[in-house]
Amino acid sequence: MSPALDAQLKEQVLEENRRVHSLENAQYLSRHPEQTNRYQQKILKATLDSFEHSLANPRAHILDVGCGTGYLLLPLIQRDYRLTGLDLSSTLLDILQESIPDDKKDACQLVADDIESFLNNSTQLYDGITCSALLHHLYDYETVMKLLCQRLAPGGVLLIFFEPLKQTIQSQLRFNLHRRLGRIDEHAYERDMIRRGIALIQDDYEVADYQRRFGGIDPNCLIELMESEGLRLLDKQTYCARRNGWAAWVANRILGTCNTFNLLAQKV
Ligand SMILES: C[S@@+](CC[C@H](N)C(=O)[O-])C[C@H]1O[C@@H](n2cnc3c(N)ncnc32)[C@H](O)[C@@H]1O
Repeated sequence: MSPALDAQLKEQVLEENRRVHSLENAQYLSRHPEQTNRYQQKILKATLDSFEHSLANPRAHILDVGCGTGYLLLPLIQRDYRLTGLDLSSTLLDILQESIPDDKKDACQLVADDIESFLNNSTQLYDGITCSALLHHLYDYETVMKLLCQRLAPGGVLLIFFEPLKQTIQSQLRFNLHRRLGRIDEHAYERDMIRRGIALIQDDYEVADYQRRFGGIDPNCLIELMESEGLRLLDKQTYCARRNGWAAWVANRILGTCNTFNLLAQKV
């Protein structure tokens, strides 16, 4: 692809992310129960416990990239860290600002920017960097990953959470059951959103979910990249996220299928 076309496509992905995430507005997490159902909440809590355990400094300064309405940032601020929350969407940051408790506002700074520009324009180091469901929205997540690793202080901890897993099909039967369960789950979700009067906007995500067109993200490529930047992998989790907790339970406990991953790594 020519450099001009490359730059144009990158700008289009950014623009679509601004547009689609401002459509999400305050209903972002209500529209994404796959992040808030009981099954996923247990995974989130256990992962944040491991993140906290790996950080030496209880008053660590954490950069939460693509923070949205505060899925990671709000529980992290309750754990008494200092937070910088960065997101492309000023609409979502305005909503997040309202949700930060008054006594925590001084410990938290919110920045509206594109993550790549932000990291290129600052050399500040962080004790921890967290990132939930962001990488698959980026045109060039590898460049961003390298920069994130470079902005970690020695001993700093990086958490990549809730990214779509790129994988090859091992068993066609299992894959078909996985797809069928996905359709039942999605149907139940759509009915629930209609009942609650929440507008469905999945179709708007075609360009904004840019890495999904390549089947998601391969965690092994990220691990290689992290290791080349001097990080050591602490944990890798793969599992199946579903809109409804019951569907996530069936997928993980009975079918044993995966569509999502988390990584935890530390700079040595
Ligand atoms: C799927 S949402 C996840 C939000 C939040 N981290 C969560 O897990 O609920 C992706 C977020 O990444 C933000 N985003 C997308 N592209 C971005 C970019 N280039 N730089 C910074 N943030 C970006 C979006 O505005 C959105 O808030």
